[in-house]
Amino acid sequence: MLRKLLFITSLLLLLCSCQESKTQLVEDPEQENIRALLALPDHMPLPYIPKYNPLTKEKISLGRRLFYDKKLSANQTQSCGSCHFQALAFSDGKVTPTGSTGQLLARNSQGLSNVLYHTTFTWANNTLPDIEDQLQIPIRADAPVELGVTDQYIDEVLARFSTDPVYQTMFAAAFPEDGAVTMNKIVFSIASFVRTMISANSPYDQFIAGNDYAITPAAKRGLALFNGEKFECFHCHRGINFSNSYRDINTDPVAISFEFFNVGLYDTDSTGSYPRIDQGLYEVGFNPDHRGMYRPPTLRNVELTGPYMHDGSITNLRDVIKHYSDGGRNVTTGRYVGDGRYSPLKSALVQPFSASEQEIDDLIEFLNSLTDQDFITNPKFSNPHQEP
Ligand code: HEC
Ligand code: HEC
Repeated sequence: MLRKLLFITSLLLLLCSCQESKTQLVEDPEQENIRALLALPDHMPLPYIPKYNPLTKEKISLGRRLFYDKKLSANQTQSCGSCHFQALAFSDGKVTPTGSTGQLLARNSQGLSNVLYHTTFTWANNTLPDIEDQLQIPIRADAPVELGVTDQYIDEVLARFSTDPVYQTMFAAAFPEDGAVTMNKIVFSIASFVRTMISANSPYDQFIAGNDYAITPAAKRGLALFNGEKFECFHCHRGINFSNSYRDINTDPVAISFEFFNVGLYDTDSTGSYPRIDQGLYEVGFNPDHRGMYRPPTLRNVELTGPYMHDGSITNLRDVIKHYSDGGRNVTTGRYVGDGRYSPLKSALVQPFSASEQEIDDLIEFLNSLTDQDFITNPKFSNPHQEP
């Protein structure tokens, strides 16, 4: 017994000594491989990767090529990259985008920083646990059309890739067992590429990694406000990704909860309705209590992902903060007149508070410290079709 104890103690000591320089627990080779493929720095937790789609460098490079290839839309006019631009942290700067057939979408294009830590995808959906599930929508959906690869077009689209020698080689390398081009393989590869979109070298990251001078005193004041009980931001935007939607390799899948919030942007009928075109989580199960509920988006690179909110209805960060300090939005003109501040469905965490211009400036300075220049210029994420 004693010998066993001693053995355990020495093992612990051993573990501790090799951990000295690392904040993470000792990782097995498979986990180290994931960390290497993602170029994940030590301060970022190991993500969850579904077992059915292990990460490989071949899938990642195939996924990158597909992400930027307009052949992936039925009429060959759009790729994923048409709505997700690297320079804008993979958002598109528009209020809401237009799909490949010209249909205007109801929702603002999301940035794609650190998407792999989310527990469910899009602005408001609790039925898409993996990126693989979500990607069916932009590729396959017909209402609204994004890339428009509906059943009618699927064979034609797959043939574009299976007859292309570059893709033949890449599919064979990514799926050595059977390199035939299928929609699943396309989705698995693009999901693998999207997982590599890690933003972890902003001034804020450098600050939490130990460089006290990486962010300004104003940004530090802003961070304190963000995490304080007056502004309340951290209740919904928390953790490494500034969202409540979070899982990593250690998260128990059974314990995952999906919290969505109504932040009082609208109340078109005094019972809490949002504009009919999009009522958030309500669209998934038509539960009237879910009207106006959305997932708190990540705030990483938020300086670059405006206009803001699910419908792009707030132009800049100052106005977003004023929205919160007003305790919601009173829409006084136009089609959606109504006072979101008094919506019965608004989250109790969104209450009016007084914010000085100085405090708002500080908070914006903090939010801007989440902008990661490496992320938006990293050649790993750029369009490979444009390489010399
Ligand atoms: C026509 C514009 C458009 C195209 C094309 C498009 N997207 Fe999107 N993307 C959006 C919009 C809008 C949303 C938000 C959708 C929602 O909330 O319903 C989104 C959401 C996402 C998300 C969810 C992010 C999150 O944080 O949950 C991912 C991932 C994504 N897109 C990746 C892709 C990939 C990969 C492709 C190509 C297969 C693609 N998109 C094509 C506009 C587009
Ligand atoms: C009750 C939870 C909650 C609180 C508290 C909260 N947020 Fe949000 N935040 C959300 C949700 C949900 C959305 C998306 C709402 C929508 O689109 O309808 C959002 C959206 C945003 C956006 C837009 C991001 C984008 O990409 O469009 C910013 C910026 C933001 N919040 C910052 C803040 C700040 C700063 C605070 C503190 C003053 C704060 N939030 C407090 C839940 C919250």
